[in-house]
Amino acid sequence: MSEPIRFYFRGAVQEVAQAAPTQTVLQHLREDLRCTGTKEGCAEGDCGACTVVLGSLRDGKLEMKAVNSCIQLTPTLDGKALFTVEDLQQADGALHPVQQAMVDCHGSQCGFCTPGFVMSLWGMYLDKDGQPAQRKEIDDCLSGNLCRCTGYRPIIDAARRMTQLPKVGFDRAALTAQLQALRRDAMASYAAHGQQFHAPRTLDELVQVRAAQPQATLLAGSTDVGLWITKQMRELNNIIYLGQVEALKHVREADGVLEIGAGVSLNEAYAALCRHYPPLSEMWQRFASLPIRNAGTLGGNVANGSPIGDSMPWLIALGASIVLRGAGGQRRMPLQDFYLDYQKKDLLPGEFVEAVRVPLPRADLRFRTYKLAKRFDQDISAVCAAFAVTLDGGLVKEARLAFGGMAAIPKRAAQAEAALNGQAWSEANLARAMALLAQDFAPLSDMRASSAYRMTTAQNLLRRFWLETRVDAPLAADAVNAFACRA
Ligand SMILES: Cc1cc2nc3c(=O)[nH]c(=O)nc-3n(C[C@H](O)[C@H](O)[C@H](O)COP(=O)(O)OP(=O)(O)OC[C@H]3O[C@@H](n4cnc5c(N)ncnc54)[C@H](O)[C@@H]3O)c2cc1C
Ligand code: FES
Ligand code: FES
Repeated sequence: MSEPIRFYFRGAVQEVAQAAPTQTVLQHLREDLRCTGTKEGCAEGDCGACTVVLGSLRDGKLEMKAVNSCIQLTPTLDGKALFTVEDLQQADGALHPVQQAMVDCHGSQCGFCTPGFVMSLWGMYLDKDGQPAQRKEIDDCLSGNLCRCTGYRPIIDAARRMTQLPKVGFDRAALTAQLQALRRDAMASYAAHGQQFHAPRTLDELVQVRAAQPQATLLAGSTDVGLWITKQMRELNNIIYLGQVEALKHVREADGVLEIGAGVSLNEAYAALCRHYPPLSEMWQRFASLPIRNAGTLGGNVANGSPIGDSMPWLIALGASIVLRGAGGQRRMPLQDFYLDYQKKDLLPGEFVEAVRVPLPRADLRFRTYKLAKRFDQDISAVCAAFAVTLDGGLVKEARLAFGGMAAIPKRAAQAEAALNGQAWSEANLARAMALLAQDFAPLSDMRASSAYRMTTAQNLLRRFWLETRVDAPLAADAVNAFACRA
């Protein structure tokens, strides 16, 4: 039986029964609701013109997150609140401080990008309860918004100015009550235009629906799958949505392991991981943009398993394992064994990824991860490298060197590792390991980088790691930073 999608919009509950399950939120806004304030630039999560803010409940607590409406599907709105640029104007017609600050600081020229910038800034305004943000927070907030004409300085000025204007509050309690009233206790299924969309709420419901429909597409944050629809024009006739399964959203620490549920957002997952592994913080910041990290999940990154994905190299270097679940129960394996070949994983029909388990750091571990891409923000890696070396005095007890962008799957450098294990962590042994990378990998040339570039930079990243972690004469912290800035 098909149940209508219900979400909170413009102060009322909106019901949708006719939209195709693969319709995007942006299409629904512009074509069905005729709310054209939200713009379409790229339809692939890159430009931010379509940014909206979604409200949802997590353990009864309200979360407000900026996301890209062009790659979110309409049925995923069920039980949530949708806010667009039109919602910001006050009852008396006055502009919201975010909008007024954009006017005051001349933050808009053609205006096409402006609704998206305003919604990203509003997300931060809510997050910080109208208090000033640091420059780094502003940059991060705007990492998913592109402007081709104004330039960013006036927009950054507006981000500062908005907190100097009289504060406008937001009634969180009222929205929480609205969302509680929309909450469902059991799985909801929606069907229209010959397509189906299932949203289980519990792990058991997910196991059952997945076992019954092993061919259905699993959908988590939609930051990969959304593009299959908008860019590859794929027909997805049966979707199982994981975003309502609370049991996939846990982050817990026990027995020296940090376990992250597959449904935890990239932002939350990286925040938890960075507390234990500070060298991950640059990867956290450089992974896509804030709206993509708000929607996308670590489980989706790992399950998608792209050879140029950013989480797999460091997860593999750290010895992470993956937890799979299906009707037959749970299976666990080292993450590196999950990837069999290009786009081929050790996932049985009816199974899904339940969690990722990351060992907590040991004192003798040296760890770094590096991303090489053409832009700092919002870009896919040409090469991603992660190195975890366990030292015993000056000797290497275990070296784990993992790369993305160097093979058809995220992969360890077996021969380079063998050259280091049991040997001194010295420049001579480093040179041997660097040379052996050429035997471990034969990278492709493509639009992101040539094969020669990939090999040279992979070798040089290993050298950089050694420079940053060498035991004889470690670089001073400021020298390391200077090196990091240049690379
Ligand atoms: C603009 C933009 C920038 C990006 N930048 C980066 C980047 O910098 N680095 C990077 O690595 N990636 C990047 N990505 C890719 C994407 O954001 C990540 O791969 C993300 O982690 C996918 O997670 P998701 O929850 O959105 O997955 P979805 O799109 O929902 O799903 C992705 C795939 O995983 C499957 N899947 C999802 N969850 C599960 C599960 N629990 N069990 C089994 N299968 C599952 C789906 O069926 C699908 O095949 C970018 C994407 C966009 C649009
Ligand atoms: S339209 Fe460009 S990010 Fe959505
Ligand atoms: S004002 Fe024209 S794209 Fe930003």
